[in-house]
Amino acid sequence: MLDALKDELLSLVNAAADLPALDEVRVIALGKKGRITGFMKELGSLTPEERKERGQALNALKDEIAAALDARKTDLAAAHLKARLEAERLDVTLPARPETEGRIHPISQTMDEMVAIFAEMGFSVAEGPDIEDDFHNFTALNFPPGHPARDMHDTFYLPDAPGEGGARKMLLRTHTSPVQVRTMLNQKPPIRIIAPGRTYRSDYDMTHTPMFHQIEGLVIDEATNMGHLKGCLVEFCRAFFDVDDLPLRFRPSFFPFTEPSAEVDIGCSRRGGELKLGNYGDWLEILGCGMVHPNVLEACGIDSTKYQGFAFGMGVERVAMLKYGIPDLRTFFEADLRWLKHYGFVPLDIPNIAQGLTR
Ligand code: PHE
Repeated sequence: MLDALKDELLSLVNAAADLPALDEVRVIALGKKGRITGFMKELGSLTPEERKERGQALNALKDEIAAALDARKTDLAAAHLKARLEAERLDVTLPARPETEGRIHPISQTMDEMVAIFAEMGFSVAEGPDIEDDFHNFTALNFPPGHPARDMHDTFYLPDAPGEGGARKMLLRTHTSPVQVRTMLNQKPPIRIIAPGRTYRSDYDMTHTPMFHQIEGLVIDEATNMGHLKGCLVEFCRAFFDVDDLPLRFRPSFFPFTEPSAEVDIGCSRRGGELKLGNYGDWLEILGCGMVHPNVLEACGIDSTKYQGFAFGMGVERVAMLKYGIPDLRTFFEADLRWLKHYGFVPLDIPNIAQGLTR
């Protein structure tokens, strides 16, 4: 009779599919109200001989079932772990996950691309403050006080600091050119820097926002000429717009801090209301540049009989709009997540020359 019980319990143990089911079997077999315990309780009604024999048999059965339960438990635990490891398997050699939610703003992406290209040419990145003084933004750049060229920039002036009597007029920088001045005052030639950053002018319409971005370039050395300026910008534009034969046109212009000065146009076509970059006979202005004016070098303590150089300044929004087909400037600063999702960039696609700037 105990043999039948043993077979029944052992088959229950082996049939338990998981740990909770096995626990139920343990209760059925060995619990306080379990099958074996039930037989134990009946021992009292037996004769001493019967009780001894039966007791031993029951104890042996109890041990055997307990051992079977333990063995089954070990097997089930191992199987459970194996299934979990299988299910949670992670291949750490896979590339990083692309499904991130956030996006890099096109302005940040464009500046990173520009930095990547100029870094390859040996430029390093310089910075200056958004809140500038009149000296760095204008005077040292050969805008004399009262010069009409100051009116070309619709400057945001800050209220005079108390007690200063307007001695140091503070403003929001109207271009990144003051970083030229700061760099030349702090660094000896040869100099080769770019300065990306925010700039401010009191202007707001389809093509102007009061805050926008520029990238400035400055090279100072002993034998720098306009050919170097041209080569540098041609190289940059072809890499940036990814058009190998992109034509550039240098048009005479005026800036107080460069002489001679030029504005640069790139070749395009506007046929059918669609803008295409390349050699199509039409032109689009993208930047200002020139040879650094000797007055600027002298204002920054650099000997203009020994050194000369070139500078350029470019609007980041403008070239980003061109490159990525973004039609409205103002959308850059509306912080609309749907816009950012459409025009933004996946954070792990870091621009570099080797892999291509954008993918
Ligand atoms: N600072 C000029 C502007 O904002 C651009 C420029 C920079 C021109 C450097 C020449 C040299 O319009």
